[in-house]
Amino acid sequence: MSATVPQTDLVTLSIDGVEVRVPKGTLLVEAAKTIHTDIPVYCYHEKLGPAGLCRICLVEIDGMPKLQIACNTPVAEGMKVATRGPRVDEGRRAILEFFLLNHPLDCPICDKGGECDLQDYAMAWGPGSSRMLEPKTPKPKAVDLGPTIVLDEERCIVCQRCVRFDQIISREDQLRTDDRGAHTIIATATGKPYAGDFTGNVTELCPVGALTSKTYRFKSRPWDNHRTTTTCTQCSVGCQMHVDERGDELLRTMSVTEDDAISDAWLCDRGRYNIGFVGDDRRLTMPLLKQDGAWVQIGWDDAIELWAGELKKAGANAGVLGGGRLLNEEAYLAAHLFRALGIEHVDHRAGAQTVVHHESFANHADLETADTIVTLGRPPSQLAPVLDLRIRKAVSRRGARLISVGDHAANSFVPETRVTTADELRAALGANPGKVAIVWDGVMIPDGPTLTAPLHDHPDALRYVLPEEPNGRGADALGLRPRSGGMNARAMLEAARDGKLGVLTILGVNPVLRFPDRALVEAALRATPFVVVTDLFLTETAEFANLVLPVCSAFEKTGTTTDLAGDVLPVVGLVRAPEGVFADGDALVLLAEALEIELPPVAEIERRVRELVRTPPAFAPDASAPPASPPAGEGELRVIRETTIFTGGGTLAFDARLAALRTQPRAKLHPETARALGLAPGDLVNAGANGAELRDLAVIVDEKVPAGAVALVDGIPAAPLNALGGAHFVRLEKALVNA
Ligand code: SF4
Ligand code: SF4
Ligand code: FES
Repeated sequence: MSATVPQTDLVTLSIDGVEVRVPKGTLLVEAAKTIHTDIPVYCYHEKLGPAGLCRICLVEIDGMPKLQIACNTPVAEGMKVATRGPRVDEGRRAILEFFLLNHPLDCPICDKGGECDLQDYAMAWGPGSSRMLEPKTPKPKAVDLGPTIVLDEERCIVCQRCVRFDQIISREDQLRTDDRGAHTIIATATGKPYAGDFTGNVTELCPVGALTSKTYRFKSRPWDNHRTTTTCTQCSVGCQMHVDERGDELLRTMSVTEDDAISDAWLCDRGRYNIGFVGDDRRLTMPLLKQDGAWVQIGWDDAIELWAGELKKAGANAGVLGGGRLLNEEAYLAAHLFRALGIEHVDHRAGAQTVVHHESFANHADLETADTIVTLGRPPSQLAPVLDLRIRKAVSRRGARLISVGDHAANSFVPETRVTTADELRAALGANPGKVAIVWDGVMIPDGPTLTAPLHDHPDALRYVLPEEPNGRGADALGLRPRSGGMNARAMLEAARDGKLGVLTILGVNPVLRFPDRALVEAALRATPFVVVTDLFLTETAEFANLVLPVCSAFEKTGTTTDLAGDVLPVVGLVRAPEGVFADGDALVLLAEALEIELPPVAEIERRVRELVRTPPAFAPDASAPPASPPAGEGELRVIRETTIFTGGGTLAFDARLAALRTQPRAKLHPETARALGLAPGDLVNAGANGAELRDLAVIVDEKVPAGAVALVDGIPAAPLNALGGAHFVRLEKALVNA
């Protein structure tokens, strides 16, 4: 720590007789850590800062008549501190006796047994017996706090870490304390359920067993779990996480507190909770072949032979779609193998995105040092949830300015300036924007180049593109992207629809749900003579295939992935895949053998992956702006394409425990627009365009949606936005509700 701090800014003190030199302003609790001395804490947390509520961190400081709290006392030159000794131990004993007055002493059945700080500190410093004669103040058990969290009020020690996480980190301002003294409880400010995108973090922060997650509660004991550290592959942020498993059953995921570089020690609820699909009994376990409209199971050998035969027949007249869910090594293998067959129509971009990465390599933590952050397109809070916490941190703690460009429905939890024209953007940036960071969802928008022209004055800006698929950046760099002569995803689908492709291989993506024009995808899949899909489940896309190959989840295979910042991160297989399921990579190796294509050795693949991710090859530009959209017709509303972290498609559809988290079909409107249409919150409407209709969307009134627009969520299986064929405008009609 001291190496980068000027000597004049260092303070020398002694802790338990050991000399310590730390920067001015360091808190005693942190200074003690530099000599590996742990001072007990409950309310203090290094990411939340001091609160001074629990007083378990008492220490003795020479010259001070009373014990002091180490979590809120900065170091001073010459200070002499004792973290142990008769006075300190007595002080802690008294504090613990106070905590245990009303706390139930039922550690053997508490869900936190074995990893509870109260239990540990009571063993180390506690009174050993109770002097309490009166009955404890009873408080309710198992209070349903929201769709993800249960609160056992009797156990809460009111350290308020959960409340402060909600206020300081996620900034959702939902939690607070109610009542006073021994009756204090944690509750939501509005009385509504505690629901957000980061709720699971409070169960980790809670130092006792008061907050538990519904998906793990009473499932296992920590000493029975086997823990592995891996990378979350639910989005392109690349958060590091611990995964606890027992007997091949995934039990829970937890954040890696040391992961300052990527996750900043947090997980979003998608990454944390979306694991139940791995053990779902709807997993495919045998290749499926469609015969006369019905699925029949076949063996892997026959499936590979069939696939190889069809590819040989089609020659270069074949396409490959997807790959952003593959590990790096698999993406490299796929690109190598299909190109060896002469297939140039290869694209991993199966959604709306056209640009997947920027050549610069700004890292996650760089974002926090920006003075001005500009977001383009859909809010990063939904595409890269944990990255968005950095934006909230930069704005709320460092005073960075946030400018959002375009008319997307903002859902930022910090103040922002919204601009929709180049002039407004120029004015918002001002003459001295300082260090600029640009965060973009990679979707080209009409008028994009004109609108964002002022950003070209900042060539040194930190640039972040948020790939739609978790390993979009790796797939891009490793070659799953058309080079000269190759068709991109849309061109490939159009060619397939026109009967010009013999085989379409779809690697772990669901374009029927995700590509902006569903009718085009369905027509393309129907018209292609042979469609192969690799996936875990029979998805909307797999239903159209001739051959479906069952493949592993990221928890069942080992390799690397690339996050949005270009870091190559380890993915560790920690449970066995179901019998009959292969990794995509294994399927590709079998296919190569069947086609007699020589693959590079593993060491060579690993070397190429690292080299290519750092210096991706130049691709033909494929980012032309779409034409400006026409003006709205009479009675039409402009469509704003929204994303949520729990749209309900993909693996989320195959985890029954998370049903309550799925975003319900909805239409968000500005209050003025709702008034003009005679609509009120909760009304059901149908949205129509291009001869198609999304039915029964619940009206939500939200001031952040621009007037004259409607925000519709993309990717909800029950109301897929892409069924409207990429329409810029829709008409809303009140749905007829059956009595
Ligand atoms: S619920 Fe847990 S984290 Fe929240 S105040 Fe109580 S003890 Fe602290
Ligand atoms: S932000 Fe992305 S990588 Fe991080 S936990 Fe959430 S889904 Fe996983
Ligand atoms: S940890 Fe110091 S007062 Fe709570």
